[in-house]
Amino acid sequence: MAVLPIIRLGDPVLRAVAEPVHSSRFGSRELKRLVDDMIATMRAASGVGLAAPQVGRSIRLFVFESNNAEPPIPTTVAINPEVELLGDEPEEGWEGCLSIPELRGLVPRAPALRLSALDVHGQPFERQAAGFEARIIQHELDHLDGIVYLDRMTDLGSLGYAEELDAAEEALEENGEDRAAAESA
Ligand code: NI
Repeated sequence: MAVLPIIRLGDPVLRAVAEPVHSSRFGSRELKRLVDDMIATMRAASGVGLAAPQVGRSIRLFVFESNNAEPPIPTTVAINPEVELLGDEPEEGWEGCLSIPELRGLVPRAPALRLSALDVHGQPFERQAAGFEARIIQHELDHLDGIVYLDRMTDLGSLGYAEELDAAEEALEENGEDRAAAESA
């Protein structure tokens, strides 16, 4: 497995609409290697999600996982994903992005969703997700459509560097639940 360079905001690949993965590529060594490399890259960057455009591949594929979430989010590969948003009111939560290092901001997202996608072998699967997991999935799906979390923010006033946001929060002596140190995806 190889850790790939992560593309940063400004590269046009992050603003392109990614192409579906063609059925002929499922089960191929090449696709498997890309997925393995993306998982290694996500872990090396301490991220909770990574979309193919972030490693320069404009195809509809993302990976995500979190051992720190409660309950833990298993390592998942989603190819040609479709998402049905569930729930009424969007919920605000902190997000960061491996393609926009160090910054965090509050982003409104649907509280729950149903994910339908294919795995690396082309097998379809469905998954209901809520809370942090639903947030990660929406963030990654956006990457496949050339959208970053900054585009989703309704108030840029919360945008800041994780270090400074954390220091400010500590000064308020709030508990760590909602800390801006939130992992990036
Ligand atoms: Ni991101």
